[in-house]
Amino acid sequence: MKITVKKGNAMEQKTSCLVLGVFEGKYKEEQIVQFDQQVGEAFKRATRSKEFTGRNRETLLLHGGSQALAERILLVGLGKESTFSLGSLRQVTSDAVKLLAGKQLGSFILALSQLSVKKTDLTERIQAITEGVLLADYRYDRYLPKAKPGQPVSLDKIDLLISTEENISSAKAAVTVAEAIAAGVCFARDLVNAPGNLKSPEYLAMQAVAMAEQVGISASLLDRRELERQGFGAMLGVAQGSEQEPYLIVLEYRGGIDTDQPIALVGKGVTFDSGGISLKPSEKMDEMKMDMGGAATVLGTMQAAAQMKLPINLVAVVPAVENMPSGTAIRPGDILTSLSGKTIEVLNTDAEGRLILADALTYVGHYQPRFVIDLATLTGACVVALGHQAAAVLGNHEGLIRQLIKAGERSGERFWQLPLWDEYADLVKSDFADVKNTGGRAAGTITAAAFLQQFADKYSWAHLDIAGVAWAEQGKAGQPKGGTGFGVRALLEYLREEAK
Ligand code: BES
Ligand code: MN
Ligand code: ZN
Repeated sequence: MKITVKKGNAMEQKTSCLVLGVFEGKYKEEQIVQFDQQVGEAFKRATRSKEFTGRNRETLLLHGGSQALAERILLVGLGKESTFSLGSLRQVTSDAVKLLAGKQLGSFILALSQLSVKKTDLTERIQAITEGVLLADYRYDRYLPKAKPGQPVSLDKIDLLISTEENISSAKAAVTVAEAIAAGVCFARDLVNAPGNLKSPEYLAMQAVAMAEQVGISASLLDRRELERQGFGAMLGVAQGSEQEPYLIVLEYRGGIDTDQPIALVGKGVTFDSGGISLKPSEKMDEMKMDMGGAATVLGTMQAAAQMKLPINLVAVVPAVENMPSGTAIRPGDILTSLSGKTIEVLNTDAEGRLILADALTYVGHYQPRFVIDLATLTGACVVALGHQAAAVLGNHEGLIRQLIKAGERSGERFWQLPLWDEYADLVKSDFADVKNTGGRAAGTITAAAFLQQFADKYSWAHLDIAGVAWAEQGKAGQPKGGTGFGVRALLEYLREEAK
């Protein structure tokens, strides 16, 4: 879909559809009154009968009268002006696009960039609108029959209207940025939505290599032999139950100056998590194809960062494995020697994420990273604690955690901090090894992080548990059911701030 920026007055647009926003209780504003005359006061009648009041996410589609230039006018309710945010702007844009996508209009004009959103400038609003458009246009349909006539189709062109006084080149630049970000999110969603039979660790590795080639960053893969040679005992322990070959995926992007220490991103890449010998119940086991959501977000972020040419150095490390039960699988009670040299008692083979992350976190230390951020669909306990509204953030560096929370607020992807006090580390001490891979029923998200902390002791580190947010059980405009790509937008917001 082509998104262009256009200068002009909303009332003077000849188009098949013009989209306008209306704040709750603010439908007497001059522009609205002016346009209402063009449609024979249809809007006034609709507000009188309370069919449309401007409440958030309410919509009203009117057909232009003989005096109107626009054939149709879609009014979207914005709610109260005082609480309107970039997130609301993104959401109402997605709503409008979803509503119009089914109508075979081909193209339309969005006049939303003038809306007042507190503490924002035009480029941020254009970015939110563009993201709203592109994320609403996403579908995972590679296994569905080709769309039939009458079914929603992809739109081909959308104009974003800005006023004549505004700077068109910075608005265009914001569209380009948002296109890169949305492409990163959609790449991540595609990876998460791919079924486990297609998505082996090797497939994930090949997707990463192809993406790296496309955006011009370097990629390398460590295969089983190399992982054995270097001593990735924890990661290989998880991989040994599966017929699928494990890979450590390493990507490097160098947009900063040579001497800048990189920021490292580490993503859990379990392409399917059956639980292993500690087998999961069959209900909802299908969702465990999303257990590489952390990896997907890291790869989507790398793609967008390279496309945006961020002036920063990045390294991404993704341990990719499949967790299966078999005659060669690890057993509860097994003891693994990790890459760090620390020994791990495996009490539950379903706590496999922290095992592969232990080795990945050790490995990434070789890059002398300024900060390390890992993302993982790590614990069911996180879903219990925060539901599907926020990811958990924990770590050993308060400044980094605060930065991530702030970036999350700005991008509409929420992070909520949980404590990581020393006492929790006691819960993962083992009688037979340095650590054990479960900490009991209490504080499951925190004890998982306390386990990871043992392997992240040489640098500043934050851990994001995205178990509750990587997969949407219920779809909405801008987010169909399935993989969400959660974290791509927040990480890019954080990295752009960090690169300043
Ligand atoms: N991948 C799961 C966590 C998960 C659960 C992600 C639900 C998304 C939705 C992880 O590997 C796991 O199985 N964790 C166990 C750990 C336990 C055995 C200590 C869990 O949370 O039950
Ligand atoms: Mn598991
Ligand atoms: Zn898992």
